[in-house]
Amino acid sequence: MLDLIIRNCKLAGESKIVDIAINDGKIISIGRIYEKAANEIDALSNLVTPPFVDSHFHIDSTLTFGRPRMNQSGTLLEGINLWKELKTTLNIDEIKKRALKFCRWAIARGTLAIRSHVDISDPELPAVQALIDVRKEMKPWLDIQLVAFPQDGFLRHEEAKKNLLTALDMGVDVVGGIPHYERTMEEGAESIKQLCLIAAGRGLKIDMHCDETDDPMSRHIETLACETKRLGLEGRVAGSHLTSMHSMDNYYVSKLIPLICEAELHAIANPLINITIQGRHDNYPKRRGMTRVKELMEAKINVAFGHDCVMDPWYPLGSHDMLEVANMGLHVGQMTGIEEMHNCFAAVTTNGAKTLNLTHYGPEVGKQADLVILQCRDEIEALRLRPARLYVLRAGKIIARTNPVNPEIFPQSGLEAENFPPSSQENFCI
Ligand code: FE2
Repeated sequence: MLDLIIRNCKLAGESKIVDIAINDGKIISIGRIYEKAANEIDALSNLVTPPFVDSHFHIDSTLTFGRPRMNQSGTLLEGINLWKELKTTLNIDEIKKRALKFCRWAIARGTLAIRSHVDISDPELPAVQALIDVRKEMKPWLDIQLVAFPQDGFLRHEEAKKNLLTALDMGVDVVGGIPHYERTMEEGAESIKQLCLIAAGRGLKIDMHCDETDDPMSRHIETLACETKRLGLEGRVAGSHLTSMHSMDNYYVSKLIPLICEAELHAIANPLINITIQGRHDNYPKRRGMTRVKELMEAKINVAFGHDCVMDPWYPLGSHDMLEVANMGLHVGQMTGIEEMHNCFAAVTTNGAKTLNLTHYGPEVGKQADLVILQCRDEIEALRLRPARLYVLRAGKIIARTNPVNPEIFPQSGLEAENFPPSSQENFCI
């Protein structure tokens, strides 16, 4: 007897309806399944997808909105200054409490893998210890990958190098950086070189906040690509944000994109945050600030989306819904073609799994049965409706549920139901 069969599943990119058989936490068969199982779920031809992946987040600062006060300018730099004030008042228990609450929000919305940057600027490393504890505690339900992030600069902040190395010794997974926040362009480039050497020496991946600015001359991505290639780190390095690419000269971009390709960099855009933070110094027209997602994807560069922030000094909103992120990315990037919309869905699923190198990921035989059943028919409907996550499964076990959403016209209202769609779930599949 099988452990679980999910019947009548519509898999992403497939037209046939299939069943999924699960044993010992793994997918053992996909197709028409005639065996019996101890438990069965009827997916009712709804979309069944591997879970959402958030490739860029800050769990240590989440849910601190309004502390110590609002970010009035809405800029990155005011956010960094507010966080600088706030973090001196935080301790391990307080950070863990917020982090664990946030993790439950993410799981309920079908995200089961998050790459979180963690600030290493405090020599006591309270955020690092807190998130290492949270990573371990949440492991049965959620994969958390931690990035050692020198928020106050790697060269600009005296103790950053020592703190970063200690964080890596403690078990942080990935080397981070913030070259555009160093004192000069030269120091930014130097920080990249030193951080890449550290990662190469320890066999680690790299994910840098890179060129998170509207300055078209912020070209640290070029150095990151070059160092990646020079040290043979291809496929292990991600550039996060890359917002300066939005404002760069087109000729320069025509040289830069092949460099990014050659170095096999992963690009991570954070649409909700980029559209909010960038362009703050502009008069009209105001720049959108998001990197060139469409062009990077056309060049076959792996592009993933991150949520970046939820209710913190940089962003007052969010509930950690990766479909909201993908929906915003689609709009900001004007990616309304069919293939482009599918690419936006991939940016919060398979492309993220590739960035994080999640080897157990995917709705395939032999992979871990981490699955989400959405109340919609396909990926485009998922982006359009941001529907209910009917079931979230981790290793074949249900870990979160949401009741189907079926709004109805109030019968006494006088409105004729047939002239006003009673449900946003009407099927417009292509
Ligand atoms: Fe970030």
